[in-house]
Formats: sequence, C-alpha cells, structure tokens
Amino acid sequence: MRAADIKKSLIVGAGVMGSSIALTFARVGIEVALVDLNEKSLDRAVRLIRSSLNTLADHGSISSDEIPSILDRIHFSTDLKTSAHEVDFAMEVVVEVEDVKKRVFSELDELIPEDAIIASNTSGLDIFRFAEIKRPERLVIAHWFAPAHIIPLVEVVPGPKTSPEVVHSTAELMKRLGKKPVVMKEFVRSFIVNRIQNYIAMAYFEILENGWATAEDIDLAVKTSLGIRLPIVGVVQNMDFTGLDLVLDLMKSYGASNAFIEQKVKQGHLGAKTSKGVYDYNGRSEEEILNKRDLLYLKMLDHLESINAYQPI
Ligand SMILES: NC(=O)c1ccc[n+]([C@@H]2O[C@H](COP(=O)([O-])OP(=O)(O)OC[C@H]3O[C@@H](n4cnc5c(N)ncnc54)[C@H](O)[C@@H]3O)[C@@H](O)[C@H]2O)c1
Repeated sequence: MRAADIKKSLIVGAGVMGSSIALTFARVGIEVALVDLNEKSLDRAVRLIRSSLNTLADHGSISSDEIPSILDRIHFSTDLKTSAHEVDFAMEVVVEVEDVKKRVFSELDELIPEDAIIASNTSGLDIFRFAEIKRPERLVIAHWFAPAHIIPLVEVVPGPKTSPEVVHSTAELMKRLGKKPVVMKEFVRSFIVNRIQNYIAMAYFEILENGWATAEDIDLAVKTSLGIRLPIVGVVQNMDFTGLDLVLDLMKSYGASNAFIEQKVKQGHLGAKTSKGVYDYNGRSEEEILNKRDLLYLKMLDHLESINAYQPI
C-alpha cells in the first residue's frame, strides 16, 4: 500500500489521541472512520474535534470555511465491522492495556483488506510480542505526541517482522499528513522521546518529593535554560558545545562511563572546538559555529519573550 494511494483510514479509539489523529487525516482529504465503544465516547470526540478545529481556525492554520468539510470526512461509529470496509490504513488508538490492544489487532487483521497497514499508537508496549495476527509484516508502531494535530513528531517503529515497505509507506503517509516522522531501526520500549522524558520525570519527581524546589521554580528553571536550547541543538548536539572531553569528565565524576563518548574523545573529536564531535562541522571555525548557534538562541529568546512563554498556562 503506497502512502499516496491511501484514501480511507480507520481509527479505533476516539479518545484524546484518536480524535486528534482523526482530525489530522481528515484535514488532508483522507476519509476517516472513527470508532469507539459507545455513543458517549463518540460525543466527546465530536466536541474535542470541533474545539481543536476552532483553535486551528483562531490561529489561522485553517480557515473556518474548511471546518464543515473536514468534519464531513470523519465518520463516527460504534460498528468496527462496517467501518473496516475497504480501509487502506488503520490506527489502533485504544487504551494502553495489553489485552484490549491484543483483541483490537486480531479484529483488525480479520476485518481490513489484506494489503492495509495496521499502525499502533502505543506509548511503549511491545505489541510485536503479544499481537496475534496472521500478517505480522503489516504491523508497525506510529507513535504520535499530544496534541497530535499540532505536534509534528511521529515515531515510526518496526517490529522484527514488519516489512520495510510498511515502514516506508507509514513514514511517507505521516509526511503527507504534515508530520515529521522519525524511523527507528528497531523496537525498544518507550522509543526515543518517552525514554528521554522518563529520565527527566524521575529527576523532577525526586526534586518535588524532597522539597528541593517548588513546582513553579522547577518549570521556570527548565523553560529558561533547556527550553531555549532544546529546539536549536536537541540533546545530542548540545554535547558538542559542552565539549565531549568535559562530558566524559562529568560522567566519570558520577562514576559512569559511555563507550560512544570515550571513543570520540580518544579520536580527538571534542565538539565545536575541534570542528568535529558527534556532528561534523566540516572544518568551520569554532567562532563560526558559535555565531550560528547564538543567533538562533537569540531569536528563540525574543520569540519566547514575545509570547510570554515563561508564565504558567
Ligand atoms: N494521551 C497521550 O498523551 C498519548 C500520547 C501518545 C500515545 N498515547 C497512547 O494512545 C493510546 C490512547 O490514549 P488516549 O490518551 O487517547 O486514551 P483515552 O482514554 O483518551 O482514549 C482511549 C479510547 O479507546 C476507547 N476504547 C477502549 N477499548 C476500545 C475498543 N475495544 N474499541 C474501540 N475503542 C476502544 C475508549 O473508550 C477511549 O475512548 C494509548 O495507547 C496511549 O498510551 C497517548
């Protein structure tokens, strides 16, 4: 199934994520069947989708004239069997409970056409271990981030039996939806972002629990430091600016080590100061590299201040 040929999608689970994902498909002209267990859940989905569309219109991302046709493309239903008819791409977005997901995968495998893709929005379950489906080559993870109609990233994660074509088509489809897919080489629990986020969570849980700082001060500290750097250098490239030799010394002072960093230091690839670290700066001078980074930081600062970003919501 090529991404460009996908005309009809099915989303199972019309909660926070399913509603937002349905809106994203419908926005680019793809028909969506949005399925949940009961009318109450579907009523909530209608309210959530309408409200999100209004926010997008308020911001100018869409015009309010487009809203009725986007809504017309979403077909709300409690009947999975009818909704699965002639579907090209199905997303499982039900609760994060192994048994529930397992049942949905089996139902989808029976009901949707043989060449249709089954993608799961699991936050980290090893669906490839427990899914019982006849065609495991068409099962893939497409992990979105809330609010799914706004945040660009979708992590595309293959299982041991997922076909490369399914991975490719899923990533291409995400691009068609206006997303920025990142394809992982293999499944690992929590993928990239939740893996990182989980470590951050452990740190602030500890600070809160011990009363070392207030919730407001933790958030302000993060917003006025990492919050400015992360969009420009991410987490990995940031080490090139710290200096990989310093990163290694810091790690040693905590009694830790890392073969990846040790090798870079051994090779003399210390970061911006040697024009090569984790990234290759192709012989550019340290001043040139820092100048480019700092202009971006200054623009980011101006922007964050202009939207009053340091205040709590
Ligand atoms: N909330 C987030 O920020 C977030 C982010 C990324 C991924 N996820 C993942 O997305 C999935 C859904 O999360 P959510 O936050 O939208 O949850 P939610 O509780 O808001 O929605 C889940 C929906 O699934 C429905 N459901 C349960 N069993 C069903 C079935 N058999 N058939 C049809 N519908 C069924 C429920 O009625 C509910 O409406 C989970 O796997 C979660 O881990 C959530």
